Amino acid sequence: MTPNPFGGTLKSIQKSAKLANVLYDVRGPIVDAAKQMEDEGQKIIRLNIGNLAPFGFDAPEEIQQDMIRNLPNSAGYSDSKGIFGARKAVMHYTQEQGVVGVTLEDIYLGNGASELIVMAANALLDNGDELLVPSPDYPLWTAATSLSGGTPVHYRCDENNGWQPDLADMRARITPRTKGIVVINPNNPTGVLYSDELLKGIVDLAREFGLVLLADEVYDKVLYEGVKHTAIASLSTDVLTLTFNSLSKAYRSCGYRAGWMILSGPKHIAKDFIEGLNMLANLKLGSNVPGQWAIQTALGGYQSINDLVKEGGRLRRQRDLAYELITAIPGVTCVKPQAALYMFPRLDPEMYPIADDRQFFMEVLRETRVMLVQGTGFNYPDHQHFRIVFLPHEDDLREAIERIARFLESRRKRPVS
Ligand SMILES: Cc1ncc(COP(=O)(O)O)c(C=O)c1O
Repeated sequence: MTPNPFGGTLKSIQKSAKLANVLYDVRGPIVDAAKQMEDEGQKIIRLNIGNLAPFGFDAPEEIQQDMIRNLPNSAGYSDSKGIFGARKAVMHYTQEQGVVGVTLEDIYLGNGASELIVMAANALLDNGDELLVPSPDYPLWTAATSLSGGTPVHYRCDENNGWQPDLADMRARITPRTKGIVVINPNNPTGVLYSDELLKGIVDLAREFGLVLLADEVYDKVLYEGVKHTAIASLSTDVLTLTFNSLSKAYRSCGYRAGWMILSGPKHIAKDFIEGLNMLANLKLGSNVPGQWAIQTALGGYQSINDLVKEGGRLRRQRDLAYELITAIPGVTCVKPQAALYMFPRLDPEMYPIADDRQFFMEVLRETRVMLVQGTGFNYPDHQHFRIVFLPHEDDLREAIERIARFLESRRKRPVS
């Protein structure tokens, strides 16, 4: 303890023990190091976070105009679940997806999907309750589970099977404490879209064990090569399902913090849980109102994301280029992403034996000025993976991946045969 000028002592202040399982490398130590390098005048290519605007992906102008027009009506708190028009638009969206029986009361708006994910975990989990979370995951899910007193139990997504979740592994991890299954589809960090057959298998498991499904579908419109996304909520009427989505990705509006959660399935068996959700929604006094106005404009009308993902579209070209260049590096393999903004390549351990992947990608940053996030940052157990965000323009992507290739060449343990 250190004496302070008022005669007392200054105790050091510790973070709570609840943060022990919380990983957030997408904004963690590698990002701090990059910031310091930038402060020293170095230019960093950021392939670490799915934030679209800094890469010149603008939010649709119509959304911006509607928000501006409605700003004078946005100074008060909204209904704690959100404004009528936006929730109505979300309700129509669920109907288009084939999800039945959703009413306005089943829709909650939030400051991005993130806030609603934390809210749902808090409403669902008692201390020690378990939630099945994918590995690799989007780390907010593991964090939200831990922070709400629950225990994240990671189920395996199988790289050898195109990163599809392993249903047998999922089943083997169910215990009397399991409350629900988290499904991230399309997936971050793998960029994979799940088959309907697999989704039905997950629904069957949830039904068999009386579990809640928590479906994170924020990339449902970021799809390449004409693949189709199925909302898992559309596959049953008898499994309680919470679906999370937002404007962040498909509408390039991460900063507007506009998201929603939809409750579907047998709500009559979940009255108590729903009361909990409503209590928490009331406590947070609603979400950012200008962002809510953006929702109704976004969901109706022209869907400009389609221009970005189609053949020749900017996102599609960047995905193709990143995939082609990264898999051309000796010892690097990757499941080709069909969706989202990411890929999750693997480094052959014989060529690149990595003891500590965070340290390895810190060295990548220092030597190449390219920022990536290591696989363990996504609660993946080995040290041989990393995530690439393919948001930069093609020239920057090419430059970044060439630098990564040179770095890997300098670390390669076995000559290429
Ligand atoms: C899978 C996944 N879920 C949720 C989020 C959070 O999105 P939002 O901006 O809506 O909070 C992200 C953001 O990258 C994500 O990748």
